[in-house]
Amino acid sequence: MPPLGGEYRPSTTRHRRDGVKSGTINMTYRYAFVLGRVYTLSLAELFFYFQNHGWTVKIVDISHEVLIVETDEQLEVQKIQRELGGVVKILKVLDEVKKKETDYINFALQNYFKPSKLKRDFLHNLKGKIQFGISVYLLDPELSAFGEPKRLGMFIKRAMQEAGASIRLVLPQFNSLTLASVVVTHNNLLTKGAEICVLASPTKLYVAKTLSVQDFEDYGRRDYQRPVRDDKQGMIPPKVAQMMVNFAGAKPNEILLDPFCGIGTIIQEGVLQGYKMLGTDINPVAIAGSEKNLEWFRNRYKISKGKYHVETSDVAEVSKVIEHLKQVGAFPQVSGIVTEGYLGPIYGEFPSPAEIKANFEQLTQLYTKAFQDYVKFLSKGAKVVMCLPAYKKGDSYIQLENLDFIKDIGYNLVDLIPNNLAESLPFLKLTDRATAIYDRKDQIVAREIIIFEKL
Ligand SMILES: C[S@@+](CC[C@H](N)C(=O)[O-])C[C@H]1O[C@@H](n2cnc3c(N)ncnc32)[C@H](O)[C@@H]1O
Repeated sequence: MPPLGGEYRPSTTRHRRDGVKSGTINMTYRYAFVLGRVYTLSLAELFFYFQNHGWTVKIVDISHEVLIVETDEQLEVQKIQRELGGVVKILKVLDEVKKKETDYINFALQNYFKPSKLKRDFLHNLKGKIQFGISVYLLDPELSAFGEPKRLGMFIKRAMQEAGASIRLVLPQFNSLTLASVVVTHNNLLTKGAEICVLASPTKLYVAKTLSVQDFEDYGRRDYQRPVRDDKQGMIPPKVAQMMVNFAGAKPNEILLDPFCGIGTIIQEGVLQGYKMLGTDINPVAIAGSEKNLEWFRNRYKISKGKYHVETSDVAEVSKVIEHLKQVGAFPQVSGIVTEGYLGPIYGEFPSPAEIKANFEQLTQLYTKAFQDYVKFLSKGAKVVMCLPAYKKGDSYIQLENLDFIKDIGYNLVDLIPNNLAESLPFLKLTDRATAIYDRKDQIVAREIIIFEKL
């Protein structure tokens, strides 16, 4: 991957999948992807997603909040939004406005937002009461834009009112510069007005309009409305499961396996993403829970039968399940593995060094057997996307240090973000082995997300 500003051309060109609108020639389009809280994973997901789809995108600008890209094709934004667990909003970048370093954002834009432009480009000549919101995203973490959304919003509101429009302004909370997706949705900004976003660097402002926001209600449904939950073992959040599915880079309708499927979160997310999913777990109660959840999911999301199969198996013997399914012609070739895996016990208090050591030893044994068994059915280049426990201590993590036992079986560790790009992005939070950690506030056992590739 090239340094900033260069073209991002995937190393392997895969067949074009849908997501791109055809029939447009010699035009370029700029989109901005607003990144989720764990932005390193969000960026990694985007780069994998572009690569999986064989898209060439030029990186225009990038920060811990937003990635701006240029493509020569129009994107099917709603579909892409549904398929990316780590992207909070997708924006269309309409203009680029120069700014003096010392100027306030609203000053630099005072001649930009004319009522005619606002009506045409942002509000689509909407009639009646218009709702509009403002967010400011920073392209440089050193930049301060305190109070800018309000100043900008008031300025636009006045201009529109003078032009005779009836307008309601939705602003970020006092200590924030941006509107959360939930606020954009609840205020109907995308249907009865617009969210105007300014992406600010010290010398340049990109003016953008929000095209879509993450459907937080649907993610909540896919997580909390399932008939069976398992708070003892823990469940992976659907958004993270979706990102991990994207890291596997399989083609539509290919088969992915989760050999520690629990109550089926990764299975459901994989099916929703267009894959056939196979789930196994050593615990028959978890498999019964999976079956119940997936039946609910199938009805709720109108998924046809035969898109998934779950059954009880120890991971050390999962190849036997696969061999049997192959023989009956149900699930012929597994293209990759996406699994949260087993992370060891869940703790209420930080575990002692001896407990951590014992867990790491147990996991080393478990994963030695698992990766040895995977060899029997994975093809060269197939990915194993999984989590390892990362015990959060202050600002640092205690991780399973030595992964040679997996490499020795015949797997390579894949960089989550290619090294040459990562080097130019100092804000990334990558571990020493180029993996990233998904954690939540007050969580003792965080998840290190790691990708192996079969040699
Ligand atoms: C953290 S849970 C997975 C939860 C799952 N990702 C979900 O969201 O529902 C780990 C799972 O690994 C399973 N497990 C533990 N040891 C196993 C083994 N040797 N073989 C297969 N599954 C195992 C446990 O039964 C448990 O369901």
